[in-house]
Amino acid sequence: MTETQQKYTVTAALIYANGPIHIGHLAGCYIPADIYVRYLRSKGADVAFISGTDEHGVPITVKARKEGKTPQQVVDFYYEQIKKSFTDFGISFDIYSRTSNQSHHKVSQEIFTTMYNKGYFDEEVSEQYFDEVAQQFLADRYIVGECPTCANPNAYGDQCEKCGSTLSPTELKNPRSTLSGSKPVMKSTKNWYLPLDRMQPEIEKYVNSHKEWKTNVFGQCQSWLKDGLRPRAMTRDLDWGISVPLPDTDGKVLYVWFDAPIGYITFTQEWAAQNGKNWEDYWKNEDTKLVHFIGKDNIVFHCIIFPAMLMAEGSYILPDNVPAQEFMNLEGDKISTSRNWAVWLHEYLEEFPNKQDVLRYALSANMPESKDNDFTWKDFQTKNNSELVAIYGNFVNRAVVLTHKFFEGKVPARGELTDYDKETLATLAEFPSKIGDSVENYRFREALANMMDLARLGNKYLAETEPWKVIKEDPARVETIMNIALQIAANLAILSEPFLPFTSEKLRTQLGVSSVTWSEAGGADLLATGTQIGEASLLFEKIEDDVIEKQVKKLQESKRLNELENMKVPALKENIQFDDFAKLDIRIGTILEAEKLPKSDKLLKFLIDDGFEKRTILSGIAKHYSPEEMIGKQVTFIANLAPRKIMGIESNGMILMAEDRDGSLALLQPNKKVWNGGTVS
Ligand code: 2FM
Ligand code: ZN
Repeated sequence: MTETQQKYTVTAALIYANGPIHIGHLAGCYIPADIYVRYLRSKGADVAFISGTDEHGVPITVKARKEGKTPQQVVDFYYEQIKKSFTDFGISFDIYSRTSNQSHHKVSQEIFTTMYNKGYFDEEVSEQYFDEVAQQFLADRYIVGECPTCANPNAYGDQCEKCGSTLSPTELKNPRSTLSGSKPVMKSTKNWYLPLDRMQPEIEKYVNSHKEWKTNVFGQCQSWLKDGLRPRAMTRDLDWGISVPLPDTDGKVLYVWFDAPIGYITFTQEWAAQNGKNWEDYWKNEDTKLVHFIGKDNIVFHCIIFPAMLMAEGSYILPDNVPAQEFMNLEGDKISTSRNWAVWLHEYLEEFPNKQDVLRYALSANMPESKDNDFTWKDFQTKNNSELVAIYGNFVNRAVVLTHKFFEGKVPARGELTDYDKETLATLAEFPSKIGDSVENYRFREALANMMDLARLGNKYLAETEPWKVIKEDPARVETIMNIALQIAANLAILSEPFLPFTSEKLRTQLGVSSVTWSEAGGADLLATGTQIGEASLLFEKIEDDVIEKQVKKLQESKRLNELENMKVPALKENIQFDDFAKLDIRIGTILEAEKLPKSDKLLKFLIDDGFEKRTILSGIAKHYSPEEMIGKQVTFIANLAPRKIMGIESNGMILMAEDRDGSLALLQPNKKVWNGGTVS
């Protein structure tokens, strides 16, 4: 079988349709998948690139409750928003579908039924946690408690996000319902379990036949296998999801992690039907390679549970590889939707229109392949200014501008070659396989760095051959130089396509390169002599400091607002007796004079008419009120606080203030003018 006929089914995780997508999603799954697929297509492989939204499960119903909407309204909104973000960023899915489609319900039920008929499910009545307030069984994310492995107090009923353990609700210590916050009780219910324990030998054999998997993926699988697999319920007592296709199962649906990966199959069927293909070629042909791109939190589901389902069903191929990525952090902190600590794709495009490739590049260069990595705005700026502008953009611009200057924009002929020309062309010829090898082995950072080395080769070639100087004495030599420089630029247009698809397209249009065929790259005849190339247009532009500072500030501000929103009021103090309160002499007085203390940025000094005399009180409110605005105001103060010397001045009392959640202070004033010395009780 030749490479051009090789079939691939490449999937990218079906993200929950319960929120917009951010840079962590792009870096952790969709960009690597897109690079891989674009490369394969360029090699002539037959690829189905499949993805969509996961529209069932507790994450959806939790969001719906929070927003006061129906689950259907939630998924309808986010499906469109997420799909648009992917299109905007050039993620080149062949189909982007959704698991709420009826076609998907049917396929999931059929697979469940086949497994059931083959006797693959253990029917079990067991005691499960039930929320008596919400009248609901508590599966997955409806229940939280302490993780038995790492003691994280907020582990979910299906998984601990801190240590990655897969869990069942009964394993949690001190469980509580996320619906009502109440302590759940046990209630019996019937569910259908996939006997992963009995299937362990088969699964182990499968995993062990894939020692080539990434270390993080293979390692995680081994650790689950070592712990011993446990049966896992494939049904849930919920009202949102795909109905269990068995009699008397009202109020029960398929487990979301049963139906979601089947989505890959359903969507392939939908795509095949729309495009005159046979879907079985992509799922039932042993020669087809099935590759799942996911984030590390999904490893167990794709490497153990889904393959076990496919083994049980019996007629499907198994995943060939599951290149899971680690997580992308943001400015040193974990990306978090609930804390609004994220760069949302739709917001990025509002602020950086047409700069999709800059983000794709910055995320790819820092891709969390083998460990968690960090995205910072400063690094984003450096990647743009020092690499895309200074290396890629600069080389292409010089090649195009000089061709216009010397040869009216026509590709000149290549004459006799110097040793240096030959050496450069030999180096050029190595790039397609070098980059390709890295992509095929899921080393995308390395592939990207290799691609940039090609632009560096172009810059070095122009710097060393100096056509701008040689043109005076040897114009024929410059024809050869510019021909070679343009061939390098044309190669760059093809070989950068998987990483920078928008830029590649611009460059191909500029140079008149129509194909993106990997096998043609590496050669020096991509541009025929005499071809008219377009005028130079800047591929990248410098990003200034103030633009970056604005983004950093925006993040900090959103974090601050979020912290304020989630702030809890201070705990109440212990009770006191009425006599304790009665000891306080609280009065009303009017401020006559107010001034700043020269050596303090906090204190203001007031002279107050307290109804008997004029008294001095110092108060730490200089950051909240100016002396001028205080004059004439009535304030509430404690009149019998023992005098205290502060900075050499005696203060006779304390002005009462209310503190807001952001630390700002507000005066406590009577809501109508009262006499000075009036008591407060
Ligand atoms: O973690 C998630 O967002 C899941 N919805 C991923 C599902 S991937 C696949 F199995 F569908
Ligand atoms: Zn844990």
